[in-house]
Amino acid sequence: MAIERTLSIIKPDAVAKNLIGEIYTRFEKGGLRIVAARMLHLSKEQAQRFYAVHKERPFYNDLVEFMTSGPVIVQVLEGEDAIAKNRELMGATNPKEAAPGTIRADFAESIDANAVHGSDGPETAEQEINFFFKPEEICPRIN
Ligand code: PPS
Repeated sequence: MAIERTLSIIKPDAVAKNLIGEIYTRFEKGGLRIVAARMLHLSKEQAQRFYAVHKERPFYNDLVEFMTSGPVIVQVLEGEDAIAKNRELMGATNPKEAAPGTIRADFAESIDANAVHGSDGPETAEQEINFFFKPEEICPRIN
């Protein structure tokens, strides 16, 4: 299996509920390493750019408003099949459909306040990592 990197966001709802440590434990117990991390409060312009792929969707403005409602933590996760592994740990977008034991099933409230974001493929992972991090801010832990 390939060693990959993926971009993860702990969203404002989970940060507000003091769930950063719980979610980091899920990543680490799931075999992923945190190789870069930062807390920030997204500006409207940053959230609009990050979610530009959804700009024609009816929920776009609500999504931007929610993602700018409080601080988030962005991190790069590294490990074997990290993109799929992270999505498995997160569970389905809609927490009502998320498998038991996943982050969203356990901690998320709704399809918009759904605790975490994770890149959905290798190309988006690269784009999303570059959106938040410079190469020198990433500290590889697997050689
Ligand atoms: S989809 O429908 O397959 O394109 O959805 P997905 O790519 O999994 O995620 C879309 C992101 O938008 C957020 N969001 C919503 N999605 C669907 N429906 C509604 N009503 C909605 N409101 C917000 C959802 O949380 C996804 O955010 P990210 O950060 O990408 O996980």
